[in-house]
Amino acid sequence: MKILVTGGAGFIASHIVDDYVKAGHKVIVVDNLSTGFRKNLNPKAKFYKSDIRNFPEMEKIFKHEKPTMVNHHAAVSLVMSSIDNQILTYETNLIGTVNLLLTFGEYGSGSAGYRKKFIFASSGGTIYGQPKKIPVHESIALAPISPYGLSKFLGEETVKFYGKSFGFEYLIFRYPNVYGPRDISHVIPIFARLMKKGIKPTIFGDGSKARDYTYIEDIAQANILGLKKGVNEILNLGWGKKITDKKVFDTIKKEISFVEKIKEKGPVDTPRYASYRKGEIYQIALDSGRATKILGWKPKIKFEEGIGRTLETL
Ligand SMILES: NC(=O)c1ccc[n+]([C@@H]2O[C@H](COP(=O)([O-])OP(=O)(O)OC[C@H]3O[C@@H](n4cnc5c(N)ncnc54)[C@H](O)[C@@H]3O)[C@@H](O)[C@H]2O)c1
Repeated sequence: MKILVTGGAGFIASHIVDDYVKAGHKVIVVDNLSTGFRKNLNPKAKFYKSDIRNFPEMEKIFKHEKPTMVNHHAAVSLVMSSIDNQILTYETNLIGTVNLLLTFGEYGSGSAGYRKKFIFASSGGTIYGQPKKIPVHESIALAPISPYGLSKFLGEETVKFYGKSFGFEYLIFRYPNVYGPRDISHVIPIFARLMKKGIKPTIFGDGSKARDYTYIEDIAQANILGLKKGVNEILNLGWGKKITDKKVFDTIKKEISFVEKIKEKGPVDTPRYASYRKGEIYQIALDSGRATKILGWKPKIKFEEGIGRTLETL
């Protein structure tokens, strides 16, 4: 089956591409390499260096490739980048998504054993805003507090709207904090790279800010299961457990023997602290019971193991 993956030169989707190729699918990658890298591209996938904001280019690609499924990960994908580049965020995450939905609706085609389907990477960590009760279920009201979260909320709505109007299936994943090899821009690689050099990283807040961390292999597995299951569904992925910034620091510290490396004077076992940042929620974890029911998905790689595997690659 032919699957067009956007953002396939980036962190998460490059792993998904690898798994799709391994499973014997024909994979087309569309990526403008703005935050992705050629070295992440699977050599067996066909690559278009192209921008999803460019409707005529998307039309040309979809008309030619006629994919059965789209797995859409290309995005401005960081809260802080979305605050600094708000127009680019909506152009990419909203208009870019609409461009793909329109061209897929027009030119995508079902194939033996598979119906047309659009898989969308949304953000469980930002779309809910700050929930009162944790872990959060998919059914609570959405209240994003960053342009990034809002762009994912609006993106989800366009996916549902065009899925229904064109009659293709959709599956929306609300991701937790995903971590693992090839990630360069989130807290774990940022902390680990500094700490490996003996430099203290900065925690924004008092260390109690918390996220639900899920290893990339588990996230890629959900994207494999989603090819056959999950029709017009919105599913949280995650452990349902909060991991604090301080715990991230302490886990990396233990793994890399930070105390022996530290070059700075003063207490060695503490990070640096700075004020909380605007646009970031305090704590979240996602209830993925529905993903278990619908897909048979459950995360497997525990935090310490995932951190160990990630650090080996940094
Ligand atoms: N990493 C996480 O923890 C996390 C959590 C929730 C949701 N997500 C979502 O998962 C997806 C992938 O995130 P990631 O962490 O792998 O980020 P990433 O930045 O590594 O990957 C995004 C990819 O999209 C490409 N891209 C960006 N704008 C584009 C455009 N206009 N046209 C074509 N390609 C473009 C980039 O070059 C990059 O390769 C995003 O949609 C993100 O919002 C990620």
